[in-house]
Amino acid sequence: MVFRKKDNIQLKTPEQIALMRKAGLVVAHALQAVENAVAVGVTTKELDAIAHAVIRDAGATPSFLGYHGYPAAICSSINEEVVHGIPSDRQLLEGDIISIDCGAIVNGWHGDAALSVMVGNASADVLKLSKVTEASLWAGLGQARAGNRLSDIGHAVEQCVRARGDYGILEDYVGHGIGTSMHMAPPIPNYGDPGRGPVLKVGMVLAIEPMVTMGSPEVQVLIDGWTVVTADRSWASHWEHTVAITEDGPWVLTALDEVRL
Ligand code: MF3
Ligand code: CO
Repeated sequence: MVFRKKDNIQLKTPEQIALMRKAGLVVAHALQAVENAVAVGVTTKELDAIAHAVIRDAGATPSFLGYHGYPAAICSSINEEVVHGIPSDRQLLEGDIISIDCGAIVNGWHGDAALSVMVGNASADVLKLSKVTEASLWAGLGQARAGNRLSDIGHAVEQCVRARGDYGILEDYVGHGIGTSMHMAPPIPNYGDPGRGPVLKVGMVLAIEPMVTMGSPEVQVLIDGWTVVTADRSWASHWEHTVAITEDGPWVLTALDEVRL
């Protein structure tokens, strides 16, 4: 989507953030169920059905399904696939890394989160890739505080990744504001100098989502029109949370537990 400078960042009341927590918890439960189901031989379509059932049984709506024609409730991206992989009859193999992205709507409010899971025993390098990406997400979440500037988030993500090795950080895909739509202003890059961009305010809700590769940050979209793969076919990891900026600091709305940083 195209963001313009005049695009305002939606501010939520505490009551609206409480509703977004409900959506976030649905996403957390769906992702937990999918993570528990990941095993050798399982297909990504089966994982999609599990997430869809959790969302439906909670009385919520899967936000991805039908989004610009997207055909599933989750994105499932394996190995060199970074994001937006479409669930299929492909079976998971020992050593694969699969990133699962999920979104749900409760009473018109959105939650969006993603995690990476190893299938069976993965190589130490791939395990580290996922750990580094997850750590960089939490570094970014910790910057979601009133008074900070937007670019403090991307700066923290990038510093965390760079300190841990020679990785690629995607530039073509970024995080986003979230609320009454899944993708709202502002775009949130996972890199950059600190102290730039809008001042963060209580009531903003952001989806922070580092996408990190073991090689180049360059990506291509497959002919299915969705699946984003690394140009050099190096493996990738994607982690995401929706976080609210509150008077008391960051509230991670898509965490299973009550996490306030
Ligand atoms: N969480 C993803 C993102 O923010 C959304 C997936 S796009 C969809 O990019 F089409 F699958 F919904
Ligand atoms: Co997102």
